[in-house]
Amino acid sequence: MRQLSFADLLRRRLVFTVGKGGVGRTTVTLGIALEAARRGQRVLVVEIEGARGLEAALATQRGQVHPPAWLDRIEYMMIDGRKALEEYLGLIVPVRRLLKTVFSSNVYQYFVAAAPGLKELMAVGKLWYEAEQRNPTDATGAPGAHQLVLVDGPATGHSLQYLRMPRAALEAFPAGLVHREAERVVGLLRDPEATGVVVVTLAEEMPTNETFEMVSGLDDLGMHTATLVVNQVHEAPCTRAELDGLPIPDVQPIFRSPASRGRGKGAVLDATSILAEIVARASEEIGWAEINASHVQRLLARIDAPLVKLPYLFNEEFGADEVGRLGAMLAEQLDARSGAGPAPRSRGGKS
Ligand SMILES: Nc1ncnc2c1ncn2[C@@H]1O[C@H](COP(=O)(O)OP(=O)(O)OP(=O)(O)O)[C@@H](O)[C@H]1O
Ligand SMILES: [Mg+2]
Repeated sequence: MRQLSFADLLRRRLVFTVGKGGVGRTTVTLGIALEAARRGQRVLVVEIEGARGLEAALATQRGQVHPPAWLDRIEYMMIDGRKALEEYLGLIVPVRRLLKTVFSSNVYQYFVAAAPGLKELMAVGKLWYEAEQRNPTDATGAPGAHQLVLVDGPATGHSLQYLRMPRAALEAFPAGLVHREAERVVGLLRDPEATGVVVVTLAEEMPTNETFEMVSGLDDLGMHTATLVVNQVHEAPCTRAELDGLPIPDVQPIFRSPASRGRGKGAVLDATSILAEIVARASEEIGWAEINASHVQRLLARIDAPLVKLPYLFNEEFGADEVGRLGAMLAEQLDARSGAGPAPRSRGGKS
């Protein structure tokens, strides 16, 4: 079977990014969106209720001194289950006054607050709407339409809660309107051609364990793990033997900063301490690289999905460029293993 290329991933209408808190879900979602937009695709990026990371990260992209023109192909949306429910009721109850009365009634307020999973169900229903109804086959000419909906999902357990709701509704309502609606949503989520899940993790003990839980939760739901992204991977800068063989010179101080003059010996920067510091950092990096490699092996052994490794970027500031670079690396790795050619460069801005 041919491996999934980046273009194959983008051919889906709905892509969820999931993973443990803090592993880089927002970074990966936006990285994919940037690369998709750079390649000419119109993308809707979505985050769910309360989260603001994606909105802020996208604002950083737009706030660059020279933002590329293709950034305009990325649209942002925050999905709030309660608002989605009201929007949905607006579609099926077109009489505005009646709708207002419903919304302001205590029974409705109580129902929305108390019904378990209703908000999650409505949020996924809204995603269905965005992926199916605003996704014409030829979106290039349709203003406001997008070809791909990319969701920056909440952390693992919470994401599964959302993704489980349509099936729960399907089982809870054996017939009728809710059943029919849920059936359409479940159909979209389970269609591997239409929906893909990008699972992000770190190659460390806890995130790896949580990744196994996530992937088996997705399997239970009949959902397709399109790609496994191992983020913040450390690579060994050299071998331990090379470090051990380094001569630590015994030399005089080479630099004394004005501020440190007259202070104790500790403030003096000499070649020996610089080298010792470098050796300590390199040794730490080798340690991390070993830990990462062992967890990558565990992931490879148990998860049957293309695995992409993104490096830990040692930048003083993690900003617009870093996110773009990681997105491009993700795309390159998928393309390289699938044998896809180089990505077409889009016109209309720096790339
Ligand atoms: N490859 C990387 N190299 C270095 N730093 C990274 C990398 N990826 C992410 N980070 C850092 O980790 C931070 C967290 O990433 P991000 O916000 O994408 O995670 P998240 O999974 O969305 O977190 P949350 O659970 O809070 O939503 C980023 O602000 C960034 O500083
Ligand atoms: Mg986030």
